[in-house]
Amino acid sequence: MNRIMPTGPEVVLEVQDLGKTVALADGGKLEILHEIGFSVEAAETLAIVGASGSGKSTLLGLLAGLDVPSSGKVLLRGQDLYALDEDGRAALRGENVGFVFQSFQLLPALTALENVMMPLELAGRAGAQALALARQWLERVGLSARAAHYPRHLSGGEQQRVALARAFAMQPALLLADEPTGNLDAQTGQHIIDLMFELNREAGTTLILVTHDDDLAAACQRSIRLRSGRMIEAGAILV
Ligand SMILES: Nc1ncnc2c1ncn2[C@@H]1O[C@H](COP(=O)(O)OP(=O)(O)O)[C@@H](O)[C@H]1O
Ligand SMILES: [Mg+2]
Repeated sequence: MNRIMPTGPEVVLEVQDLGKTVALADGGKLEILHEIGFSVEAAETLAIVGASGSGKSTLLGLLAGLDVPSSGKVLLRGQDLYALDEDGRAALRGENVGFVFQSFQLLPALTALENVMMPLELAGRAGAQALALARQWLERVGLSARAAHYPRHLSGGEQQRVALARAFAMQPALLLADEPTGNLDAQTGQHIIDLMFELNREAGTTLILVTHDDDLAAACQRSIRLRSGRMIEAGAILV
């Protein structure tokens, strides 16, 4: 039987006319995002840049299905994220998306190693395999010596690296990171950038990175710039 095969690279993410407006305590409304639209193909690297308060974190949260838009759509591997209920979104996210938050979001009662193991176990990996992968990824971010530490006994930069190891270990198709080098010194930051791009090259992981860091933005194939919740610029970065 003849089958029509899709041509060209897979579109991992498609954003259509996405808007987010919130109600304020004084009865007014704040439009945080206005008619955002772009698409990202498999294995692409995209930077989202813009001043503080321009809507970057809100956009990233919407791409991950962590928030609900006021208008528009997010298609993740062709599936309309917000046509699904919360459980459906969580399942689709779990299978496809790794997220590194600005505020790390490590679980305080778990050690560094246990924090990295947790999503692997939730995804059904056997204990021994989760342990081996978690050890391997802590080593790759340079934190083997801190495996038994609790988050409160780690510096900000160390917590950031645990959060990255936790996301990387899942080998997501799409990695979303909100200022992943924001709390790191230059050398550690460069190491983390190198790791993310290695993951992109080795595993074809699509990267979408919110950043203030010009080096990190320049390392991406494309960028979009937000100003007051609007896309003001999109295209390849020419270095
Ligand atoms: N739930 C909310 N309610 C009211 N204002 C919000 C809410 N979330 C974000 N904002 C505002 O929206 C703007 C964009 O926020 P954010 O997406 O965090 O920007 P960025 O990550 O670019 O710094 C900011 O002015 C912020 O204060
Ligand atoms: Mg932000």
